[in-house]
Amino acid sequence: SPSGIVLVDREGRIVLVNSHVEKLFGYRRHELVGKLVEILVPERFVSQHPKHRGEFLAAPTARAMGAGRELFGRRKDGTEFPIEIGLNPIETPEGMLVLAAVVDISARKLAEAEALRHREELGHLSRVAVMGELAASIAHELNQPLSGITSNASAGQRFIDRGDVDLRELHELLGDIMADGRRAGDVIRGIQSMVKKGVTARQRVDLNHVIINVAHMVNPNALLQSCKVETLLEPNLPPIEADPIQLQQVLLNLLINAFDAMHDTPVPDRKVLIATERNGDGTIRTSVRDYGAGIPEEARERLFEQFFTTKAKGLGMGLAIVHSIVESHGGTIVAENADGGGARFHFTLPAKPEPLA
Ligand SMILES: Nc1ncnc2c1ncn2[C@@H]1O[C@H](COP(=O)(O)OP(=O)(O)OP(=O)(O)O)[C@@H](O)[C@H]1O
Ligand SMILES: [Mg+2]
Repeated sequence: SPSGIVLVDREGRIVLVNSHVEKLFGYRRHELVGKLVEILVPERFVSQHPKHRGEFLAAPTARAMGAGRELFGRRKDGTEFPIEIGLNPIETPEGMLVLAAVVDISARKLAEAEALRHREELGHLSRVAVMGELAASIAHELNQPLSGITSNASAGQRFIDRGDVDLRELHELLGDIMADGRRAGDVIRGIQSMVKKGVTARQRVDLNHVIINVAHMVNPNALLQSCKVETLLEPNLPPIEADPIQLQQVLLNLLINAFDAMHDTPVPDRKVLIATERNGDGTIRTSVRDYGAGIPEEARERLFEQFFTTKAKGLGMGLAIVHSIVESHGGTIVAENADGGGARFHFTLPAKPEPLA
């Protein structure tokens, strides 16, 4: 696009303008010549402008003005428009002049804003497009708390039927039922905020804390499948910025898969080990290791695909959910077969640096 040319003397007075400047700024040529160049600068920048001029004259080399700042021109009617300015020193017998080439970048700015809106729109669309998958993942994620509720409730009934009601025990069962109910609600809320435009609730989270919590939640499943859960947590982990409910979902899915994989493992060996560890590069690595059948070769490549399952009753959603949650937190996840049998999943999440005190 054509440039407006403004020639300015050492004192900041306009010496000459081309016709494009008249178009851009809405002045006639004679209204500008002899005036301070600040007439073209938005009022809020006027007081700073002579200083910038001085700096240019002190080190006059051809360069873009503003160095990364957004620049605006002021029209005669007071309206503003975004511009880019190239500055060139010109030696003349009357001393140095500064030639400023002004380009109106409104159209480009508009296109950028449009592109941004378009990307947001696309992001929203792709979220809506996964609605079908979401339905599957809702079903999947609600299954666990619902079966927790059912099994705790039936355990409670058994206590009562047995005749020796231990009120403390009953109280604990009811507490677990409430926690599962709340968690089911959280999962639904998390999905709602995923579908609406916007991000889910990130906060500073202690990963070890989430793990201890989840280890407790899966107790009924562990009991049912005669598995033990052990933890090896590195103390004093830095916090991570995450949605705690989604982290629970990651761990729950990995644990439940681990229990399933140990179906044919002798009972005394059925164990899942969850470990956390700091990596040198400011990330935290969490691993979930079981002593089950291991990952079959033909499944290796497809584990994280939606609807990939080798189980008769599987949906094949668990690891797909895990994968998308880990990635949305800026992390990575891999699976491998561990020495000594069984599978190990480990995921790495960026730690949030402690704020400077
Ligand atoms: N710990 C593990 N050990 C061995 N194989 C595993 C393990 N975890 C997952 N897999 C394999 O990956 C497949 C996909 O797991 P994923 O959790 O996505 O689905 P699923 O468990 O089959 O079904 P669901 O949707 O109910 O979770 C499993 O069917 C299984 O073959
Ligand atoms: Mg699963």
